[in-house]
Amino acid sequence: MISFARGAPAPECLAVELLADCAKGAIERDGTSVLSYGTGLGYAPLREWLGERYSIDPGQILLTNGSLQGFVYLAQQFFWSGVGGRVLVEAPSYDRPLLILRNHGVEVSTVAMDDEGLDPEALERELKRGPKPAFLYTIPTFQNPSGRTLSVERRKRIVELAHEYDLLVLEDDPYGFVRYEGTAPPTMFEIEGSIAGQIAHTSSFSKTISPGLRVGYLILPKPLLKPLELIASSTTISPSNLPAATVYEFARRGHFEPNLERMNNLLRTRRDAMLTALERHFGDSASWSRPEGGYFNWLNLPEGIDAGELLTRATEAGVSYCKGTDFYPDGRGAGSLRLAYSFPSPEEIERGIAILAELARDMKS
Ligand SMILES: Cc1ncc(COP(=O)(O)O)c(C=O)c1O
Repeated sequence: MISFARGAPAPECLAVELLADCAKGAIERDGTSVLSYGTGLGYAPLREWLGERYSIDPGQILLTNGSLQGFVYLAQQFFWSGVGGRVLVEAPSYDRPLLILRNHGVEVSTVAMDDEGLDPEALERELKRGPKPAFLYTIPTFQNPSGRTLSVERRKRIVELAHEYDLLVLEDDPYGFVRYEGTAPPTMFEIEGSIAGQIAHTSSFSKTISPGLRVGYLILPKPLLKPLELIASSTTISPSNLPAATVYEFARRGHFEPNLERMNNLLRTRRDAMLTALERHFGDSASWSRPEGGYFNWLNLPEGIDAGELLTRATEAGVSYCKGTDFYPDGRGAGSLRLAYSFPSPEEIERGIAILAELARDMKS
């Protein structure tokens, strides 16, 4: 099976030996303390390292077992015990948070996006329409699933709107450092630049070191710190210490940046293979995004082809992907699909796209 479905790094991206050595080093250095329960906020040396990296007080940082857990905590904070409410999301958006919100019985309102990302005018219209949402969930850089990046002007406008309308924004940024070219825009958290603000920021080491470590983090505005720390400590007592200590040891030994560059080089080759294959096999018959980083391409299929039907045929032919409807809460996206190029080899990417294009042509004829 050639999988374009998995938003996971290819096995060769993972620094197995270095990480084994860092895990051993972390236990040897910290001994019994890393093997005991920790604090609700998580392993302090890693929070301090992150504090320096983001130029913030480590007291603002809550470590999580993967960044999706941070999303769950925020959803619990607002929608505990079935208390209803509304959340704004860009459309399309990452499918797992959509499912989590649905499971909490939350009304999900979509905000339009285009090639420059979430549209601030559409956001303002939605805010005026009311009722007041609990928060806006957005992935501004190399978005999952579309691969799009929010422009700097729009980031600034969204931060302004957040202040005008007292809107909490959860900026989910796991792909910000997975950049192959171009200049990184400032995050909305950086643009806002204050602790008691409207922007909560979440990310993780899943895409920059390894998803199996399950080390994520939330950077929180002050009023949310205590409540989320309480939710976290009553959920996991403390986030896993050993993976966090392993990440810290990895960073302390100076591996983080060189390893990220190595991973990004491997992923860039895959992104290039995907763009070349799409051009070669779909040509003018379809359209797709051209991300400068991240894991995903969004493919709009030739007119009239249903991505669900194509998936059935593709699976039989040994190729998988995620269909567009998975990323909308309201059934849209039937003619689109998400292609993750992070996992298969460049050769598999070429072969897989050739198969998809041939199946799409068969469906047209
Ligand atoms: C936008 C986005 N947020 C969060 C996650 C979850 O990442 P983690 O492994 O840190 O839980 C993913 C994983 O694919 C993602 O694409």
